Amino acid sequence: MTQPLKLGSLELSSPFILAPLESVSDCAFRRVCWDRGASLTWTEMIRARGLARNNKSTLELIDTFDPEVLTGVQLMVANEKELSEALEKLEKPVAHFKNIRAIDLNFGCPSPEVIRIGAGPALLKRRGKLDTIFKTLAEWKKSTSLPIGAVGAKIRLGLNRLEQDQKVYLPIVELANEHLDYLTIHARHARQNSADQPTWSAIAEAQAQSKIPIIGNGDVVTREDWDRLSRETGAIGALIARGAIKSPWVFRGLRGEGSGQPTSDAELDAAETQYLTLAERYGSKPKFREWHQEGFRRMKARLHGDVDKGAALPANEHMQ
Ligand SMILES: Cc1cc2nc3c(=O)[nH]c(=O)nc-3n(C[C@H](O)[C@H](O)[C@H](O)COP(=O)(O)O)c2cc1C
Repeated sequence: MTQPLKLGSLELSSPFILAPLESVSDCAFRRVCWDRGASLTWTEMIRARGLARNNKSTLELIDTFDPEVLTGVQLMVANEKELSEALEKLEKPVAHFKNIRAIDLNFGCPSPEVIRIGAGPALLKRRGKLDTIFKTLAEWKKSTSLPIGAVGAKIRLGLNRLEQDQKVYLPIVELANEHLDYLTIHARHARQNSADQPTWSAIAEAQAQSKIPIIGNGDVVTREDWDRLSRETGAIGALIARGAIKSPWVFRGLRGEGSGQPTSDAELDAAETQYLTLAERYGSKPKFREWHQEGFRRMKARLHGDVDKGAALPANEHMQ
């Protein structure tokens, strides 16, 4: 049985959420995942500074054109001033901004360029600063004219192993309890990459102190993974990244509605056509289209048992 999930005032049909994915989660891909069972989707990480400065390529990343697909915007901020200015820009009378239903703050991006400006995981141990940032977001939610149902944050366990051992993530749970509607925990520190095993026990520790929903993240792909995550940690939702890139059907598998994989060429071709048609309609950049076409080619190779050509993910410089 798939349980619904409430985040703030958003009613999600299941606990399985599509992750923010840089250079991947455009509007067309979010629809492909939504139609295959994702209950909430995110834009890729958007730099608040770029948004505040009306940077054209930053603004283009807010591609919330499809009102039926529940979508939130993920922002990367270095301080509360940047956040306020970025949130103000979202209030501009741009028709598709009215479809933004949630705001997430990124404290996980391990890119040196992000850490150098004191953003992302560099903020995890800056309790006072985080408090002000969370408060700014919560206050904005109360006054905005946008239909925002939930505000939250996505964190890693620390900037590095030392911070993880110091459990810098636990005070963040206290701050989140006060100001946010949910907290997503990617159970790795920022020096780890996706091949490293996530520390789900940290999600359990956070859950034990939490008064708001905790979304677990890291290596959840199958229904068995989800059963284990919810049993071992008490997380009430899961954020799915690489599993969705590898197969947008992953959400059906998580819901217990099939294997989580496409079963025929026809099914795959229909998904690719859907993606390409929507990408054309919404004006996705060629780099998104080319990347997803390569992704569909690899899915097809796997369907036909060609392990070499079907290697899980096309290369992506933004893997976090
Ligand atoms: C291609 C790619 C792009 C990503 N972009 C973002 C991003 O924009 N924002 C973010 O918070 N995490 C990003 N991540 C991290 C994922 O959201 C997720 O935390 C991580 O992949 C672990 O989940 P998984 O085990 O389900 O893949 C990205 C990951 C990948 C693979």
